[in-house]
Amino acid sequence: MRAILASERAQELDVDALAIPVAPGLAPDAGLQELDAACGGLLRTLLTAGEHRGRLFEILPAPVSGIGARRLLLYGVGAARDLDGWRLREAHHELVRAARGYGFRRLGLLATAPLGPDSLAGAVEGCVMGGWEQRSRQTAPPERGQVDELHLAGFGAGREAEVVAAVQLGEATNRAREWTNQPPNELTPAAFAEVARQVAQRAGLEVEVLGPDELAAGGYNLLLGVGRGSRNPPRLIRLRHRGAEGAPTLALIGKGITFDTGGISLKPPEHMSRMRGDLAGAAAVLAAIEVIAARRLPLDAMAVVAAAENMPGNDAQRPGDVVRSAGGKTVEIVNTDSEGRLVLADALTYAIRSGATHLIDLATLTGGAKYIGGHVFTPVVATDDGLWEQLRRAGELAGDRLHRLPLFADHRILLRSEVADLRNSEYGEANTVMGGLFIGEFSEGRPWAHLDIASTSWNTNTQLTTVIRGPNGVGARTCVRLAELMSGIGR
Ligand code: BES
Ligand code: ZN
Ligand code: MN
Repeated sequence: MRAILASERAQELDVDALAIPVAPGLAPDAGLQELDAACGGLLRTLLTAGEHRGRLFEILPAPVSGIGARRLLLYGVGAARDLDGWRLREAHHELVRAARGYGFRRLGLLATAPLGPDSLAGAVEGCVMGGWEQRSRQTAPPERGQVDELHLAGFGAGREAEVVAAVQLGEATNRAREWTNQPPNELTPAAFAEVARQVAQRAGLEVEVLGPDELAAGGYNLLLGVGRGSRNPPRLIRLRHRGAEGAPTLALIGKGITFDTGGISLKPPEHMSRMRGDLAGAAAVLAAIEVIAARRLPLDAMAVVAAAENMPGNDAQRPGDVVRSAGGKTVEIVNTDSEGRLVLADALTYAIRSGATHLIDLATLTGGAKYIGGHVFTPVVATDDGLWEQLRRAGELAGDRLHRLPLFADHRILLRSEVADLRNSEYGEANTVMGGLFIGEFSEGRPWAHLDIASTSWNTNTQLTTVIRGPNGVGARTCVRLAELMSGIGR
């Protein structure tokens, strides 16, 4: 999709449809009144007749004359007070999906209330995200075209660079969604490493891939342990962007379980069906590092992916095994289904050995995240106030909803084991906090934060109709925004 900052007024745009945001109960602003006059009061007629009530995802096409556009396309953004960065992107995601369904190739967009100049990045990112197709493997996918051109009116002049940046972030988000959606017979740990090599080549990043031999030599036994039941052995992948000399060095670390059966602690079928998405964290950091490199951000940053397939098998690790981590701590494997924290622990050590000073991990770590934030917000475990503050701001700029969980000294007691330094699973309480704290044990005192995207990376709740379905690339844009903030760019 080509996004173009329009120099003409909305009524002059030569497009298949001109999209108009609608929120319930908002009086038309000057821009809208001017447009309405040009199209003979059609907008006022539609809105006062209640043909469109501004509900989120509500869509109404209407043929129009008197302006350059062939149609108006009214799209709902929901109540103005609820319109945060996430909803902003979702509304535009669904706008473009609808436009594609109607076969509109040239789309205009008027920034009228409740959209303001601040909405530019979110609107464009959402529109680009609306071009992604989950069903690309169907032999007869649903008929939907593509919006080739998006003409943006009313956002103000001279903002071309922001538009380019937003398209780039939207496309990166879609790459993360595509990897997350990829079936586990295609995307094995080795195949994931190949994907990472392609990213590195495109973006001019340094790449290192540790296979089974290198992992053994480096003592990455937690990662190896998780992969032991599978014929597709693990990989530890690092993509490095060298944008500045010296501190800080930001590590973006992603859980890349290409399929999670639970291992010997086997999952019941109803919990296993969606486990191809257990690499959403890795997908997000890979997508992010490509943008960080493409923008030549003046900081040192790396993406680290811990890729493994968690399978039961003759050589699989057992509940009861004690394994020595690369960082030196010993871990009692109480539950082989708590594999994410194991592979991430070794990934943190790898990042630290590679010079990381600040650590962020993204992981589909616990089913419990669903009971905290549902598909609505991402719970965060963070021990460093300064890093959390930057992450919080990055999430806001990115339109990802992040909320920090409170931590208490008592939580750490639950990590104790009778036979080892730590246990990988607990007594069935505070799973999301515990998963995070376990990973944090391997941060060696460096500022660290953990995003549990188990629930937010993929909406499976058909009742939750205000959140887009399927993988959504959560975290990818936040990582880029964080890297920007850490290199002194952005607000
Ligand atoms: N990958 C799962 C978490 C998950 C669950 C992601 C649902 C997406 C949707 C993770 O590896 C896992 O199995 N976690 C267990 C840990 C438990 C055994 C302590 C969980 O949360 O159920
Ligand atoms: Zn998992
Ligand atoms: Mn698991």
